[in-house]
Formats: sequence, structure tokens, C-alpha cells
Amino acid sequence: MALPDGQRKGLISALKRKQKHLRPWANRHRIECYRVFDCEAGDLPLQIDLYGNHLHVCEIERSNEGSTAYGQDWRSEAAQTAAATLGIRSDRVFTKLRPKRARGEQHRKQSDRSYCVTVTESGLQFEINLSDYLDTGLFLDHRITRGMVADMSDGARVLNLFSYTGAFSVYAAAGGAISTTSVDLSAGYLEWAKRNMRSNGLLDIGFHKFEQMCVFDFLSRAAEHGDRWDIIVLDPPTFSNSRSMSRTMDIRRDHPELIKQCYGMLAKDGVLVFSTNARSFYLNQRFLKDLKPKNLTNETIPEDFARSRPHRTWLFTAT
Ligand SMILES: C[S@@+](CC[C@H](N)C(=O)[O-])C[C@H]1O[C@@H](n2cnc3c(N)ncnc32)[C@H](O)[C@@H]1O
Repeated sequence: MALPDGQRKGLISALKRKQKHLRPWANRHRIECYRVFDCEAGDLPLQIDLYGNHLHVCEIERSNEGSTAYGQDWRSEAAQTAAATLGIRSDRVFTKLRPKRARGEQHRKQSDRSYCVTVTESGLQFEINLSDYLDTGLFLDHRITRGMVADMSDGARVLNLFSYTGAFSVYAAAGGAISTTSVDLSAGYLEWAKRNMRSNGLLDIGFHKFEQMCVFDFLSRAAEHGDRWDIIVLDPPTFSNSRSMSRTMDIRRDHPELIKQCYGMLAKDGVLVFSTNARSFYLNQRFLKDLKPKNLTNETIPEDFARSRPHRTWLFTAT
């Protein structure tokens, strides 16, 4: 369907209103990648992200039953309306549908176009891919969490589990980590992480390892070896059932076990940063209370996600 006039006007005025507040904030903090619209109006199920001079627009599918997406025409018109309002060239707009997933179902690849650009965050460079996957390679809601990890990393051995494109590892290395270990199942994402590390001139400073394996297997091996880290970042997907895993992972079910395992691998005064984007997630306080979790959600939610609050974060400190 086409974008109705009322929705077009609603989108323009919502974007203008938000940009009045967000643009000065972004300029003040030199942030070039941020969320400009997050389903603020009920009939506009859109997440719109600015990546420098590019726009990434996702329509969020609302239900599994029947057709609950407006469709390609609607998305294109909404995206071009947003681009015109924000002063983005129309050929720099990428439009996707974020489908509701059945449990464990993977998002499908979107294209093979490989439209990649380099963006800057906190003075660091990140390659993002706007065309091929639903996610671009840099999760914007964790901007503050990454900075927090950098601030703690001087002289530290840092383990980044479910490392994806290595953004936490890059921040840790830039913060002075003496080593980083990035663990992910995907060889492609680890290569991407290496490119991010290299483009920041960090690959040859310190000792950086990229381990392609299941986190559960990695943790068993590390426990056998008695390995220790000063900082562990544990920011897993909500659910994972890749064929190369010997078991499934459901973070609501498995977080107590994962957190306890990681905690056991911390050096003295070491810290574990655990974060999840799972909806209706409850930290198992009863099982984990001896580890004295400190809730850092409020401190790690940035201005552009203040309304949607997509993640929850806790810090565990080894004594
Ligand atoms: C949501 S991303 C993690 C985001 C990342 N922490 C960041 O901040 O950029 C999920 C990642 O987990 C990886 N993954 C999923 N299951 C895994 C497993 N069992 N072991 C290792 N990596 C896994 C995927 O390949 C993907 O790169």
C-alpha cells in the first residue's frame, strides 16, 4: 500500500520534533550514528537510524498472524519521506522489513550487494554494511556500554563473548587492553571484527585473538586451562541454535549458568558486563544474589533509546 497522507505528515512532524532535541545532543557529543525514530507513533512501526550521511529504515512486523506489514511501497515512501526531512540523499537510504521471528528462526540475508561504509564512533572507525543483513554491524544502543568497557580496559585482559563484529573488542583495545579475545561462531563476523581492529591501527598493538567457536565450548576449554580475564563482556543473542552448536541457547533460561561460569573466570577485582536485549527478561536474582549484581541499565541507555530502552545491563565484580 502507499503511505497515506496522514502518516506522511505524522512522520515528518515527529522527525522534526525529535531532531530538534537529538541533533544538538548528537553534535555536542560528536555522535554521527544514532536512532532518530523508534516506533514513536503507533501506526508508524519504524526504526530509523542515521549512520553519518546514510539512513537505515526498518519496518517492524507487528504480529505473526496474517499480513501485518504495510509492505515494500509503504516502506519506500516512508523511507524517502524520512530522508527528505533529514536531508539525506535518496540513494543513501536502505529499507528493510524486520520480521517477527518464530523461536530460534534466523534472520535471512537481505542481499549480496555489500554496500559498506565506514562510520566513526568516539573517534573509532567501524565498517557497517547497510544492504546485506538486518543488522548493520554496530548496535547503536550499546554506545555508552562500549565506552564504559574502554574506560576500564587499560592494562586489562578482555574477553568478548558473542563478539559479532568486535565493537567491544575495538573499544577495549583502544582503551589500552593488553589482550582481547573475541569469540563468535561466525567466521565472517570474526573477519569483520579483524577489519575493524585493523582499520583503527589496533591489530598489532597488544595481543588480539579471534576464536571461531561456540561460547559454551570455549568456556569449558578455558575452565580446563584455568584461564582468567580482567574484563568479560557477555552480550549474547536472545536465542541461538546454530547447527554448529551442541545445544541451544535461550538467554532467559541459560543466563545464570553462563554468568556463573564467566564470573568464575574473572581475575581478582575483575568485572563481568552482562547485557541482554531479551524482552521480558528477569535476572535470576535468587541464583545470582551472592555475586551482587549491579544494575547498570539506566547508566547505559543512551539519549536516542531513552524511550524504547532495548537492553538491560548488569555489572558483576569479582572479590
Ligand atoms: C546479537 S550479536 C552479539 C552482539 C555483540 N555482543 C555486539 O555488541 O556487537 C549475536 C552474535 O552471537 C553469535 N553467536 C550466536 N550463538 C553463538 C554461540 N553459541 N557461540 C558463539 N557465538 C554465537 C552470532 O554469530 C552473532 O555474531
